[in-house]
Amino acid sequence: MKLTEARRKELKIWVDYTNMTDKYLGAKGYSEKALNANARLAKVAHTQIHANRGKDELFLGWTELPYNQTEVVEDILVTAKFIRKRYDAFVVLGIGGSALGPSMAFNALCHLHYNDLPKSKRKGPKFYVEDNIDPVRMKELLDVIDVSNTCFNVISKSGATSETMSQFLIVSDALKKAGVDVRENVIFTTDAKRGNLVKISKQLGGVKSYVLGDGVGGRFSELSPVGLLPAAVLGIDIKALLKGAAAMDKRCKSSDFRKNPALLCAVLQYTAMQDGKNISVMMPYSDNLRQVADWYAQLWAESLGKNVTVDGKPCNVGQTPVKSLGVTDQHSQIQLYTEGPFDKVITLLAVDKYKEVSPIPRGHEDIADIAFLGGHSLEQLIQAEEYATAYALTKAGRLNYTIHLPEVNEYTLGQLLFLLELQTAYTGTMLRVDPFNQPGVEAGKKATFALLGKAGYDLQRHDLEATAPDSDYFV
Ligand code: PA5
Repeated sequence: MKLTEARRKELKIWVDYTNMTDKYLGAKGYSEKALNANARLAKVAHTQIHANRGKDELFLGWTELPYNQTEVVEDILVTAKFIRKRYDAFVVLGIGGSALGPSMAFNALCHLHYNDLPKSKRKGPKFYVEDNIDPVRMKELLDVIDVSNTCFNVISKSGATSETMSQFLIVSDALKKAGVDVRENVIFTTDAKRGNLVKISKQLGGVKSYVLGDGVGGRFSELSPVGLLPAAVLGIDIKALLKGAAAMDKRCKSSDFRKNPALLCAVLQYTAMQDGKNISVMMPYSDNLRQVADWYAQLWAESLGKNVTVDGKPCNVGQTPVKSLGVTDQHSQIQLYTEGPFDKVITLLAVDKYKEVSPIPRGHEDIADIAFLGGHSLEQLIQAEEYATAYALTKAGRLNYTIHLPEVNEYTLGQLLFLLELQTAYTGTMLRVDPFNQPGVEAGKKATFALLGKAGYDLQRHDLEATAPDSDYFV
């Protein structure tokens, strides 16, 4: 399938699922009938999500983000302008849904060596997303920034996440030691009323804060101030990002999965899951889209990996997301994808027009392995390899489909993110699980609290002690 002129003009992303069908994949693919068998379920899921749009109590507040942020966007643009002038570095402190989005947008829409560019060539301060508590990483971050000229965006809905809050304590201390009023160099993005950052802001006498709405879960928050402030600081056109999301939303109004790209992807994945395909590989053919696969991995895993249905029935559902990068991982994972178990659906992300072409000069024309490359470009080569991979996977009977981006920019990224968010919400609903909770991450959190002596976790501590191995037999 080629990029048509209309698609190029409208900058519409599109899904090609040819290689999921029996027409191209033979018995390993799905017939019209098999896909249509899930049409009614898809329709019900669509109705449920769209009838409850914007409802905070159902965690569907994110569906309205493309439309209801006019005021906050203006505020963010003013703040971002000030930050660009005043600070040398901007650091996001957050984890999971509070970090993957900002990091992904940075990777997608900024120069791939942004921090190495001279100041005059960057649109904003140096940019870091600190989403881990590796002690080395924190210390080494402090080695390369001057805290007094750094703006720290603490992103935490709850203000109770140990990782983010310990980072905040370290940074506050460093600011105080540098003689800086914490309020001058910190911005909070958090819940409106609840949560510890609200309390801390009051204690400190008012910290500039942005609100993460009640109905917007972390992994659905990239189009909220969680993602918009860091993006605006980087000079990313956040209005175009939201416009892209709105355009995709409009294309997803139909409850007929053949007329709704997100519902189509949900049906493809759901059909594959019912057929035992427990792995969802995302393979972007673009370094700029590399972190979309990381962001999607959380969205897909945390939303769908559940052990109970909404009616309280036990289940164990979900698909394991795998991140892959084209073409790099052709030399690492493709062997497994073409010859290993039939347990995967591979989503390729293709770019029809890259930001750069990078022509390949002619040379060494006496060597056949090299001669044919000269006169082409890296753009042609990467596109040929993407097409060739889809072909090879299909020849081997492997389920794969491709999401095409006419180019990578704010507008197309906004479309892609909204498509994947809706796809996840529809699929969770089709699986009859709650795609917006994450009870499975609680056990580890509680055990950490107990190990570090948090008040109220004595019982957990006793349990940890009682279940600790009493011999080194397995060590
Ligand atoms: O998607 C989610 O809800 C999680 O990944 C959270 O974003 C993550 O646990 C961080 O939580 P908080 O924003 O409360 O610090």
